[in-house]
Amino acid sequence: MTEAHKESSARKAVEFVESGMIVGLGSGSTAIYAVREIARKLSEGKLDGILGVPTSLRVEHHARELGIPLTTLDDHPQVHLTIDGADEVDPQLELIKGGGGALLREKIVAQVSQREIIVVDETKLSDHLGTRFALPVEVLPFGWAPEAAYLESLGASVSLRENSDGEPAITDQGNWILDAEFGPIEDPAALSDQLDRRAAVAAHGLFLGLATDLMVGGRDGVRHEKRP
Ligand code: A5P
Repeated sequence: MTEAHKESSARKAVEFVESGMIVGLGSGSTAIYAVREIARKLSEGKLDGILGVPTSLRVEHHARELGIPLTTLDDHPQVHLTIDGADEVDPQLELIKGGGGALLREKIVAQVSQREIIVVDETKLSDHLGTRFALPVEVLPFGWAPEAAYLESLGASVSLRENSDGEPAITDQGNWILDAEFGPIEDPAALSDQLDRRAAVAAHGLFLGLATDLMVGGRDGVRHEKRP
């Protein structure tokens, strides 16, 4: 069922894509349904003149295969609408992202998007950020060990993300990812500020104040919530 719920939330979000828009293409197994739906609408002539801004090399590859015309933030520094997934969403529409490792580009695109629609199934909903998912923190390899120690000093249990060969997983920017288990994060804004001040932290998975809309796919259909 989860796949069907992911797909229904993503397809609902694509209803807000209009011809001529610059569209941020989110990463992950839910957002890919939106990419496919945009491609379908383009091929059927239901959308026209879309230019996509991919948030990862992987989605860039998919979008190219599906024939979605792409652009860059160099050519289009403003994005009308982005559709992206999330790992955890709280009732205020604050997010943890980065399970797929694309958090840095996703955050860059989210920060220049007029509208950021998050697409999830119900398993991503959480009363309190940090209870369902470790916080991904993208770090420069040069500074990974001190940042791991810093995160531990803040109370997290930290692991370096590895690929199937047991080597550090490498992001699109050539960085590494620390997964920091904090448990319930008491003050996400304060933690976000602390992490933003660390030189070796390229990005962290707290996406605060960025989601404008949430589409939640479930058994009863798709629920649309908006940031108040
Ligand atoms: C990618 O880095 C992430 O931020 C994804 O958007 C997030 O992990 C959600 O992915 P799924 O839709 O695959 O759960």
